[in-house]
Amino acid sequence: MQAAGFHSPGPPEVLQVMDFPDPVPGPGEVRVKVKAAGVQPVDCAIRGYGFSPPGAKLQYPQIVGNEFAGIVDQVGEGVEDFQIGCEVIGWSLLSCCAQYVVVPRDQLVIKPRTMPWEEAGVLSASGQTAHTALKELEVGEGDTVLIHAAAGGVGTFAVQLARAWGAVVIGTASPRNHDYLHSLGAIPVAYGEGLEDRVRELAPQGIDAALDAAGEEALRASVNLVSNKERIGTIVSFDLSEKLGTVPIRSKRSAARLSELTRLYEQGMLRVTIARVFPLHEAAAAHRAVETGHIRGKIVIAIN
Ligand SMILES: NC(=O)c1ccc[n+]([C@@H]2O[C@H](COP(=O)([O-])OP(=O)(O)OC[C@H]3O[C@@H](n4cnc5c(N)ncnc54)[C@H](OP(=O)(O)O)[C@@H]3O)[C@@H](O)[C@H]2O)c1
Repeated sequence: MQAAGFHSPGPPEVLQVMDFPDPVPGPGEVRVKVKAAGVQPVDCAIRGYGFSPPGAKLQYPQIVGNEFAGIVDQVGEGVEDFQIGCEVIGWSLLSCCAQYVVVPRDQLVIKPRTMPWEEAGVLSASGQTAHTALKELEVGEGDTVLIHAAAGGVGTFAVQLARAWGAVVIGTASPRNHDYLHSLGAIPVAYGEGLEDRVRELAPQGIDAALDAAGEEALRASVNLVSNKERIGTIVSFDLSEKLGTVPIRSKRSAARLSELTRLYEQGMLRVTIARVFPLHEAAAAHRAVETGHIRGKIVIAIN
């Protein structure tokens, strides 16, 4: 099969389409013919400096990508809940920008019929991170929540989930994304100098919880705005979080969590924003786009 991989870490150009052996599903595993996969900042860190995500070990040449959607084309022994031809969404570390991926059957859910492949391919990483974070911060009805980097991959899902669960959301983004944040149901606010004052003006009732998907400046502002540190989470600034006593959050992916996202999608309460779709042979350009740090929603790699 063909996949986007790299022989040693480096700039986006090290990513190339290469031939790899076709993966074969073992007992309890499913092989999926991939139609679309997502790119996240962590994929760029893996490719850029050989970052090894918890639970994974790089093996060169190393395939990239950790979320996908596609069609089941082989099932291993003992798998009864997925059949050949099922349209699925799933996740797997370091393997998804490829024509085929093999995953344990509990890392898959059925794709909603109405969901286009490009959207399905980019739901399971950022979507589950946003879901994990808001659950850990216990965001719900009556809360006013501040979400930093609200227009990005994680932020776009976090805004919508918090709204679906009854919260008022204030989201940070540059002014070019403010209409977009409005369309997701958030009150937009520009990041940068003066952020805390602008937020206080928008939320005289106070901020109950905050999610930092942007970096240290956002986390420091959150600590000045939210009194309960157990309701301030970061998915980015782990060292600073330890010093400040806030909540470090790492995505906890599960089929149950992903199913909740697909259910919300089917109910029209969650949408997927695609910034751009790249073919597999332009995987390097897709990584370059994510590395700008200014993507609205998600970058997709379409795979034939
Ligand atoms: N811990 C975990 O399990 C986990 C999981 C997923 C992601 N992450 C991390 O979380 C971060 C966000 O991920 P992502 O996929 O959402 O990234 P992303 O899609 O690349 O984020 C892009 C967004 O960031 C916004 N942005 C840039 N600088 C900003 C700033 N100073 N303040 C507020 N917003 C800013 C941009 O908005 P403008 O264009 O308007 O500036 C853009 O919409 C990354 O660092 C990623 O590595 C962690």
